[in-house]
Amino acid sequence: LKDSEGAHDAERLVVVANRLPLNVERKGCGQWQLEERGGGGLVSALRGAKSDMLWIGWAGLEVKDKEGQRTLTEALKLQGCIPVFLDSGTLDLYYHGFSNSVLWPLFHYLGLPQSDTLDATTSLDAQYAAYQQANKAFADVVMSTYQKGDVIWCHDYHLMFLPKYLKETNPHIKVGWFLHTPFPSSEIYRTLSLRSEILEALLKADLIGFHTYDYARHFESSCIRILGLEGTPEGVENDGRVTRVSAFPVGIDAGRFIDSLETPAVKQELAYYQDQFSGKKVLLGVDRLDMIKGIPQKLLAFEMFLEKCQEWRGKVVLVQIAVPSRTDSGVEYQRLAKQVHEIVGRINGAYCTFSWTPIRLLDKLLKHDELCALYACTDVGLMTSLRDGMNLTAYEFIACQHQRQQKGVLVLSEFAGAAQSLGAGALLVNPWNVREVYTAILEALTMSEFERNERHQQNYKHVTTHTAEAWASNYIRELNDTIEEDELRTLR
Ligand code: F6P
Repeated sequence: LKDSEGAHDAERLVVVANRLPLNVERKGCGQWQLEERGGGGLVSALRGAKSDMLWIGWAGLEVKDKEGQRTLTEALKLQGCIPVFLDSGTLDLYYHGFSNSVLWPLFHYLGLPQSDTLDATTSLDAQYAAYQQANKAFADVVMSTYQKGDVIWCHDYHLMFLPKYLKETNPHIKVGWFLHTPFPSSEIYRTLSLRSEILEALLKADLIGFHTYDYARHFESSCIRILGLEGTPEGVENDGRVTRVSAFPVGIDAGRFIDSLETPAVKQELAYYQDQFSGKKVLLGVDRLDMIKGIPQKLLAFEMFLEKCQEWRGKVVLVQIAVPSRTDSGVEYQRLAKQVHEIVGRINGAYCTFSWTPIRLLDKLLKHDELCALYACTDVGLMTSLRDGMNLTAYEFIACQHQRQQKGVLVLSEFAGAAQSLGAGALLVNPWNVREVYTAILEALTMSEFERNERHQQNYKHVTTHTAEAWASNYIRELNDTIEEDELRTLR
């Protein structure tokens, strides 16, 4: 990056996401407990990116008093983070409301916007206003810390107005935006009443990134069909300016998982699980407890497997980690938790014996060491989301199979972004088709060692080369490229 005299400014990467990568808890007056946050694709990808960055995000709790805001800001600053403070009313409408009750289901093909009553319309208007207000609050915090030469990287569906607000304040700021969820087909997206305003706000960014080419294509089609714009080989042209649109499939910090397998802590955990599951094949699902993850459908497929394959009863265990998520985001999440528990109860009740419980359901986030050990002793990874931006747990499972003699098999939803990168090595399934998933479980359990190895090698190569670090540096390189293009245009 150069200033007007051509001298280089120090480049600083400023990440802006709804959440900070830390859990914040108030421990008393001016006392804060900060812990690493887990359980989400965005945080683990950016943590794996390994670049120095300043991270701006919502602190995860309401802090009303100025003194509290000051002390928390200081504590977070030491961790390279800057908090955005939102009052609970705005947060409710922006996060639980527009972001998670409207955009989230729409982007995952799980629900069209509700506008069949005047109440629904009024509440949608309020949510949309709060969404914009929250995006403005994020923009204000970015601008309060902005230094010339900063590269601003905005993330996810919570912040789709941020590129517009940043550019309105300073058109020379370089702004990228990346979506961690799918972008739906234009036929789905166009049902959103606020479809044009959102697209126009996003198009103010210099670079718009998605996990897959399909999502990028859906976005471009939406711009063409809804806004009547022209597509170009680089992206979308609007007002004589091209916004670049491209696919940047995210990865994990594979080395971190592979190295962890060598540590005494993971070895000890692994020995414990091997003892627990001795003589049994382990099937594993690791998901946030979210409708998009298809946990009920997965359980039904396992039930069908137990019903049809009597010879496997007592010889297989399904471990399902269901990390509690968005517990305040409406009744659907509570209903899902209840449904999952009911199905597990029914299956365990029907099939368990005094020495065997078919399903072990854990409603909690495991520690990194526990998770690595669990992945390492798994025979079949069952990652069967109904729709998922990428699904990095599939990547983590592959990385942690590294030391195993008998490689495990990945059963992966064809509706996860990861199917486009791990499709060659995985058994791809339609997660809505319970019979198909049951058949895949059986195929995975009976697959020859040769085929399991072959499939694993293909996926392992991908996971260890297409890492989070490579993802972030490709994205930033391309964003910097748009900067150089602009500079050349100015010189002409
Ligand atoms: O893109 C999906 C995402 O925003 C990721 O951060 C993560 O997978 C998940 O949703 C976390 O959700 P929340 O921040 O609402 O708990």
